[in-house]
Amino acid sequence: MEITSFKDMYLAELQELVSVESQLAESLLRMSKLASHPALKDALVRHREETQAQRERLETMLRTHRVDPKAHTDQAMQALVKETEKMFDMLKGNDLRDAGLIASLQKLEHYEIAAYGTAAALAGQLDLRNDQQMLHKSLEEERQIDLLLTRLAKGGVNQAALAA
Ligand SMILES: [Fe+2]
Repeated sequence: MEITSFKDMYLAELQELVSVESQLAESLLRMSKLASHPALKDALVRHREETQAQRERLETMLRTHRVDPKAHTDQAMQALVKETEKMFDMLKGNDLRDAGLIASLQKLEHYEIAAYGTAAALAGQLDLRNDQQMLHKSLEEERQIDLLLTRLAKGGVNQAALAA
């Protein structure tokens, strides 16, 4: 596929984000089943719902631009998810697995924060204010879950894993 305009580049970023959110929703489901700390399990379940809403938000935006939401697979996310899930098989013990879940998910979230930050900036340059607003909304949700994960890690999950 050739991309010859700034707008098409932006739309391709959105298509990749749809793929990122779909892959993350699936992975979050597996993670929420593996988590044992109740607050962590809760956070994962809630963020999965948020992730599905974020994907729908992107699909709505793409439909407005008359673009197929399902045309791209984000291979970077595929690799990140694969690495993450490989780790889960290796981590033995609930506390250690919880600490590993948080560490892995934060890497995935940071990837999303970078992707949304870029997409929002491109939307701004294209003067697509509505898109920009929706992308900022998702970006803020990603930042919040990242902060929550940091709080959970520092608030006991990592201590428990260290003591295990
Ligand atoms: Fe997300």
